[in-house]
Amino acid sequence: MNVNRRHLLTGTIGAAAVALTASACASEDGGGDGSGQKVGISMPTKTSERWILDGDNLKTSFEDAGYEVTLQYANDVAADQVSQIETMVGQNVNVLVIAAIDNKSLSGVLAQAKDQDITVIAYDRLILDTPDVDYYASFDNTKVGTLQGTYIAEALELETAAGPFNIELFAGALTDNNTQYFFNGAWAVLEPYVTEGKLVVKSGQTTLEQIATENWDGAVAQERMDNILSNFYNDGSIVDAVLSPYDGISRGIIASLQGSGYTTMPVITGQDAEVESVKYIIDGLQSMTVYKDTRELAATTVDMVVAVLDGKDPEVNDEETYDNGVKVVPAYLLEPVSVDINNYQEVVVDSGYINADELA
Ligand code: BGC
Repeated sequence: MNVNRRHLLTGTIGAAAVALTASACASEDGGGDGSGQKVGISMPTKTSERWILDGDNLKTSFEDAGYEVTLQYANDVAADQVSQIETMVGQNVNVLVIAAIDNKSLSGVLAQAKDQDITVIAYDRLILDTPDVDYYASFDNTKVGTLQGTYIAEALELETAAGPFNIELFAGALTDNNTQYFFNGAWAVLEPYVTEGKLVVKSGQTTLEQIATENWDGAVAQERMDNILSNFYNDGSIVDAVLSPYDGISRGIIASLQGSGYTTMPVITGQDAEVESVKYIIDGLQSMTVYKDTRELAATTVDMVVAVLDGKDPEVNDEETYDNGVKVVPAYLLEPVSVDINNYQEVVVDSGYINADELA
């Protein structure tokens, strides 16, 4: 993919443009000669649809560009991810592409990788506390939160409505660097309404530690929502909105609400445009999701790797935001897109991300 095309892709969500597959981008690049160099791809889990797509897209794109690929999933166990990466280092890969489970668990294995001059790309999730990460490919993670917070503000018409409205807050795993970016982005929009009294968090749970969800697990979120409903909404009051960072967590929250008798759902956010949740949007159970085209992320990552292995500087568009505690990691950030009942067809179906028959 050439630079201009990527700018086009990320600037607006031109449905036809996005329909380009990552592999087409990689091979049209002319950078398509990995000449058998080896890439180790370490993904966090198969429990979420998005990481399966990420793994598949990356593998295909790298293979199309001439690389040999090892792809492994660590099922949300950080220690397993470390040993899988150790094995890849032992196999003399040239590049590691890693979506970390625990952002602070990888310093040791990455030091080994650096000893062997292996290029390390933090994929979607920044790796912290190590000098041995070269580049970061992700989305504008603060904007993901801004889109979620703004959706709630607009759906409840917080600017003009009298309120007060009840809201409950959920965040992702504390071991994931993205969690704070998502929440801070949303909270910057919502907190002023809480201060003003238009939004009320009846549980009083507003700190990241209180609202985090271990392993991004929907079942954990469901249990927390059950507790919130029985402890703070047993007086007949209802929840008007739930800030949820990810579709799997949203589905857990929805199950809890259904279990306690809600037939009309509050405003509920999400992220990743997972098939099940787009169906929920169509059925009026979930309000929105944030779409992040994993095909584009794979293409961006392949571009980075091709450049580095070619002795060139890869294109980056952010050299300020992502300080990992040791250094600011140069990043290429893609644009997330807010999706609801009004634009899901254009954004996720017409672009070829989800087949219409999967939603039937
Ligand atoms: C990703 C999200 C995803 C979450 C849970 C985050 O690091 O950026 O897209 O929803 O992990 O898998």
